[in-house]
Amino acid sequence: MTTHGVPTAATAATELADESAPVDVPRATDEVVVLDYGGQYSQLIARRVRECGVFSELLPHHVGADEVARRKPKGVILSGGPASVYADGAPRLEKELLDLGVPVLGICYGMQLLANELGGRVEGAEVGEFGRSQLTVREPGRLLEGLPAEQRCWMSHRDTVYAAPEGFTELASSTESPVAAFESVERGIYGIQYHPEVVHTPYGQDVLKRFLGDVCECDMTWSAASIVEEQVARIREQVGDAKVICGLSGGVDSSVAAVLVHKAIGDQLTCIFVDHGLMRKGEGDQVIKAFREHYGIPLVAVDAEERFLEKLKGVTEPEAKRKLIGAEFIRVFEEEAAKVGDAKFLVQGTLYSDVIESGGGTGAATIKSHHNVGGLPEDLEFELVEPLRALFKDEVRAVGAELGLPERLVWRQPFPGPGLAIRVVGGEATKERLDVLRDADYILQDEIRKAGLYRELWQSFCVLPDVRTVGVQGDERTYGYVVVIRAVTSDDAMTADWARLPYDLLEQIASRMINELREVNRVVLDITSKPPGTIEWE
Ligand code: XMP
Repeated sequence: MTTHGVPTAATAATELADESAPVDVPRATDEVVVLDYGGQYSQLIARRVRECGVFSELLPHHVGADEVARRKPKGVILSGGPASVYADGAPRLEKELLDLGVPVLGICYGMQLLANELGGRVEGAEVGEFGRSQLTVREPGRLLEGLPAEQRCWMSHRDTVYAAPEGFTELASSTESPVAAFESVERGIYGIQYHPEVVHTPYGQDVLKRFLGDVCECDMTWSAASIVEEQVARIREQVGDAKVICGLSGGVDSSVAAVLVHKAIGDQLTCIFVDHGLMRKGEGDQVIKAFREHYGIPLVAVDAEERFLEKLKGVTEPEAKRKLIGAEFIRVFEEEAAKVGDAKFLVQGTLYSDVIESGGGTGAATIKSHHNVGGLPEDLEFELVEPLRALFKDEVRAVGAELGLPERLVWRQPFPGPGLAIRVVGGEATKERLDVLRDADYILQDEIRKAGLYRELWQSFCVLPDVRTVGVQGDERTYGYVVVIRAVTSDDAMTADWARLPYDLLEQIASRMINELREVNRVVLDITSKPPGTIEWE
């Protein structure tokens, strides 16, 4: 098991952020709040609402009606959840939510909560309904208007609504659910048992659009790009005329955050790029070029390769590597920050998923300790500027494209803070090994890009074990390195599947590595998914 404690250069102090702070951006566009009752698709609901052009935030179900009202939403969605409404300690519906004067849509558990609290009949069914199901619309009402009478939908529940509360119209049933949708237009309360947010519900997005557009009367014009102006104003207000620094890692989050902040406050911003010598080939130069030449953003680039290599000498244990790289990174960063002089703010590329995962967004249990936090001194003296705190990764990419960042940067795959050092495994990360790995990695990326697969893969990289094997090349015995190809698909790195790369592509990659890299005589493919493996080897 790895415990990740190493910050990327971009994100060196999230721990200090008030993680429970709401994403409190004054916004010109409408918002709908999604209350999270612990369902596996809750985050997806918020994303789908945003895809409909309405800003949406995911809040823990227990935040309280006052907190929801403070956001002045145009509607509230109650998510699904694993509990039964009859279970001890099951999350309850706060009745005040129904008095906010805005429409409420309950999905799955959210619907059962509404039914149960308002006098409908909810019971545990003999058989649950999991997966694909058939929905029959008996009375389209307002919510299902214009949608087919028969449609497929995705279900995931055991308790079932047998009767809607009095005064409600029962709209649809499904294979195992006598009441699969209901509404009371008068009271502005709507419920659906199935999951409109998953792709297996073909008319799911239409139902959300009906709720957001026709029921809540939202102005559906929000887009990730539309937050640029909003953020620019907010950043100006937050920092005034103070100096700001930003750690650039070469990844998309810190780059987008930096460009956004620069747009807001110009040369009050200084970026610091610590090149620890553990980056991929050419990446350091690309970052320097993009920021200095293209954007004219003041950038301090520190070539700290020797310092890091010196520290890494004789270190083979993965956690020790991570810790010392993290500690050295902070040291270099602080030295450079001090040289910039009296900076008051630090830009962080924190994303919405980081906020949710660390419990700040939903109040749910921490799902994982985020890679970019931890191992940081408690006493970093900066206030944080986090312009991406409300955005999902794909939205950050859209903002990056809007701001004119190069396509290569916008679509860069994730890269761990400790860099290639944790991919030279089982041995010391020496300059010689790092260079072999860097060259192998370059060939892999080049071929993957040429095959048009780069964006489809969550990550593709090489690992260099401290192992040599015997081979034969040009009638001569060789004794060279083994390169491992690791390519995975994933949505969020929590789970991952090994990518089924075409054989011809694998052959091309392997033969290039062996022909072009004198030190390599064998190439193997990692076919382990996560779990049981992790994505990285260390
Ligand atoms: P694992 O190996 O745990 O990795 O499956 C999940 C994702 O996290 C990345 N990763 C890191 N990112 N600092 C980072 O910024 C780290 O120390 C770190 N370790 C792993 C990894 O590349 C994958 O995307």
